Amino acid sequence: MAHQFEPLKNDLILRTAWGQDVERAPIWIMRQAGRYLPEYHEAKAGRDFFECCRDPEVASTLTLQPIERFAGLIDAAIIFSDILVIPQAMGMVVEMVDKLGPHFPEPLRSPDDGQYEKVMQKKVDVATELDYVYKAITMTRKKLQGRVPLIGFCGAPWTLLCYMTEGGGSKTHKESKTWIYKYPEAAKALLQKISEVCVEYLALQVQAGAQLIQVFDSNSGELSPYTFKTFSEPYLAYIAEHLPKRLQEMGLDKVPMIVFPKGANHAIDSVCNIGYNVIGLDWVIDPAEAVKIRGDRKIVFQGNADPGILYGSHENITETVEHMVKGFGGGKKGWIANLGHGKQGSSSRYKDTELANDEIIGVTPFVKP
Ligand code: CP3
Repeated sequence: MAHQFEPLKNDLILRTAWGQDVERAPIWIMRQAGRYLPEYHEAKAGRDFFECCRDPEVASTLTLQPIERFAGLIDAAIIFSDILVIPQAMGMVVEMVDKLGPHFPEPLRSPDDGQYEKVMQKKVDVATELDYVYKAITMTRKKLQGRVPLIGFCGAPWTLLCYMTEGGGSKTHKESKTWIYKYPEAAKALLQKISEVCVEYLALQVQAGAQLIQVFDSNSGELSPYTFKTFSEPYLAYIAEHLPKRLQEMGLDKVPMIVFPKGANHAIDSVCNIGYNVIGLDWVIDPAEAVKIRGDRKIVFQGNADPGILYGSHENITETVEHMVKGFGGGKKGWIANLGHGKQGSSSRYKDTELANDEIIGVTPFVKP
């Protein structure tokens, strides 16, 4: 039951992600939709964040806003949603508190508490629970009319475990660390369960019309090289191995898979071998260094400008982009231009208005091909 959509007018990011030679590097911007756009606030109209995610009409409008504002300059759209819809589908309550970020009223605190048991025992029906995401994807594909490909995404198991145990963003990672060190087997059982949900969720996004997928491991930098190997990488690998199999079972073509293991640059060498087509890089590694680590493996990099350049001038941005073009080997193969993360700094508590003008000024020259 694959959908029929208009043919793509710009498939640059797909050709690049498959490792082909291209005329120039494709560009999209992590967190290209959202608060820095005045039209975001207008369309959101004071509604709750997750309410917007659950309304396909609103979610598709928000997805298209940067594509329309920066028409012709951005080579992919990313569906407007959040990584925390998976914990919700697994039975947890997640609220988005204005200016503070996500909040779980009942986080997972130990394998003996009722919440953990409830989550582990729940038979998660991602087809029904996250139906609104698939509807938003299908509607967005229609509204895109082939302008650019649409990216679907999910949170990585480790990053989701962090949110589910901490109950929100965390500076100390006290709870997630307690889980991996004190209850490693229970943590692994949860990571495995999340991984299985991720595979089904991504497959259903592809069925609905997603043309690439990205797995956000935004918190992988909290782990040591050894614990990354134990508590993150095997689950990222599970997704990369099982998604193509699941797609095949469903009679669907494979899509390029992007993984973003933020802060885990120590692991680039081994992440090159776990089955993803594209690795998203943060800005803490020099492009040329990443290229050296990659060697002759057919992996594409994505990134990796410091999002902080958006506070700088047109010249600062140009300099950073030129450094990336050079470091990533000229931009005609193996590189998707992007920022090294979707937001500046580790705090979610920045002021919207402060970033608004800077980001618009910053993004505009950045995306000029
Ligand atoms: O344009 C896009 O990139 C698509 C939409 C998108 C959102 N969240 C919308 C959003 C994507 C891809 C995400 C992923 C996401 N969500 C991640 C992984 C990427 C990353 O930033 O590391 C994470 C960790 C989350 C969880 C989350 N969602 C947090 C911590 C917060 C609050 C802090 C913050 O960064 O703003 C959100 C809220 C959120 N997700 C907003 C948007 C537009 C802001 C909502 C608002 O205040 O209106």
